[in-house]
Amino acid sequence: MTAVVIGASSGLGRALSVELARTGHAVLLVASDARDLAALAADLQLRHGVQVGTLALDLAVAADPGARVMEALAGLPTIRALLLPVGMSRSDDDGSLGPAAIGQLLAINLHAPIAVAHALLPALLESRAAIVGFGSIAGARGRSRNIVYAAAKRGLETFFESLRHRHLPTALRVQFYRLGFLRSNLTFGMKLPLPAAEPEVVARKVIAGLRKGSFDRYQPRWWGMIALIVRCLPWFAFRRMKD
Ligand SMILES: NC(=O)c1ccc[n+]([C@@H]2O[C@H](COP(=O)([O-])OP(=O)(O)OC[C@H]3O[C@@H](n4cnc5c(N)ncnc54)[C@H](OP(=O)(O)O)[C@@H]3O)[C@@H](O)[C@H]2O)c1
Repeated sequence: MTAVVIGASSGLGRALSVELARTGHAVLLVASDARDLAALAADLQLRHGVQVGTLALDLAVAADPGARVMEALAGLPTIRALLLPVGMSRSDDDGSLGPAAIGQLLAINLHAPIAVAHALLPALLESRAAIVGFGSIAGARGRSRNIVYAAAKRGLETFFESLRHRHLPTALRVQFYRLGFLRSNLTFGMKLPLPAAEPEVVARKVIAGLRKGSFDRYQPRWWGMIALIVRCLPWFAFRRMKD
């Protein structure tokens, strides 16, 4: 059975791809850089002997990413999971971005995951598969940083809630993880106010949970308590939070 990983080349997506291959899944790896994907595919094939497909695609500009993913699935075993760890943020996302930069953030964080999910939905339903999305603690409450990114992540969360509302877990397992900080490209060089999780640790939890029905949870779990506190803070105190 095949798992599709959108945003497979680094951070959590790479760790998920490694864990999927280690546990015997064929994988279709999707990201923007063909060389990164070829190197990862060769490594997974060599170390785990699984079938690996790759698709290099810039999701910021792809008109119909779902159709491209469907084409790339030809020749691979039946799809049993779609994982969407793709994401992109930028340090100047503070209300000053122009339309092109806003479009890029929305395309990568919201449009592409939804478009790919829509295109693959019939195949996912046919094989009673799992679809897994990734939100962010940044979406817990609107702040003056990561403005467009957080809006996209909250939109994605709503999309997954709609999927969960529409499909019984016996037909489609709909899983959504709201992530705290991860040690990855997105946080490289940043001074973080709380510890960052290792992508490999989160990936093991996500893959172990693939068969466990539909849900929406924080990962690591203790971020749920942080989000609750942040949401309960009175406005005057929340406004003073800078990090
Ligand atoms: N890092 C954190 O602290 C953190 C916190 C909360 C939530 N998250 C979320 O967790 C998920 C994983 O994050 P991460 O830190 O592992 O990210 P990452 O290391 O930056 O990896 C992002 C992945 O998305 C792909 N991607 C980005 N732009 C793309 C584009 N235009 N076209 C195709 N692929 C593209 C990248 O591939 P290319 O390099 O080829 O473009 C890469 O494989 C994301 O959804 C992120 O928003 C992260």
